[in-house]
Amino acid sequence: MEIDEIRKEIDSADAELMRLFARRMEISERIGRWKRANAKPAFDPEREAEVAASRIALIPEKYRENGEAFIRLLMEESKRVQRRGMDLYLIGMPDSGKTRMGRSLAETMKMPLVDTDKLIMERTGMSIDAIFATLGEERFRSFERQALRSAAERGGLVVATGGGMPMDPENAELMRHSGFCVFLDRDIERLVGQSTVNRPLLAASTKEESEMKLRTLYSERREKYLALADMTVDPDSDGAAERVINAFENAVK
Ligand code: S3P
Repeated sequence: MEIDEIRKEIDSADAELMRLFARRMEISERIGRWKRANAKPAFDPEREAEVAASRIALIPEKYRENGEAFIRLLMEESKRVQRRGMDLYLIGMPDSGKTRMGRSLAETMKMPLVDTDKLIMERTGMSIDAIFATLGEERFRSFERQALRSAAERGGLVVATGGGMPMDPENAELMRHSGFCVFLDRDIERLVGQSTVNRPLLAASTKEESEMKLRTLYSERREKYLALADMTVDPDSDGAAERVINAFENAVK
């Protein structure tokens, strides 16, 4: 039967297309990883237009319109694969509940959780206090940059960051391009209420002095958190985690 022969041809063309499609998706994922690790924007409209035009030119005149629709669809799917690699970053002051919120989000969304402070402790075999005391804050900040870069490259994670992470402009840039940033804006009076004098940056001989340090840190940092945030939530408000999940799922969809 003639139709059976023709169908065999289309079967084999489709098989080849599907194999190439999977290859394109896999390459797109690699590009996504590179862009996240190098703080490059995921989407570049100029490059997109060039890619589309150069592909369309390969298609015989009579199928141009169909070809254009096809390449646009392919590009949409490639972007979707890349969006799936976005991290969800939790930023904010010490004790704003980043780790706690991180655990709950990771569990609900079935995403791995990375806590950058914990990662640094595992990698160095030292506590955060010991790093500050023996190697100094600068070294700690460089460990922090490395931890962030590896989380950005891996992608698809919930990341609870250390409170100082976004203060470094390079880190802020990396977070901006590799994920969705949620600022946990806990009221300063609550932060004061639960702060402890034994955190390295708040270390002081009296509770009052430590409280002053916390208030200063808060006023120095709040603008930076706000500037980086794609979303700001009060972690103590009702339904905070659900709102974060909704916003993140919209952003990666
Ligand atoms: C820091 C916050 C800490 C930790 C380090 C420095 C900061 O993390 O990274 O002590 O600069 O605010 P948490 O915000 O989780 O307490």
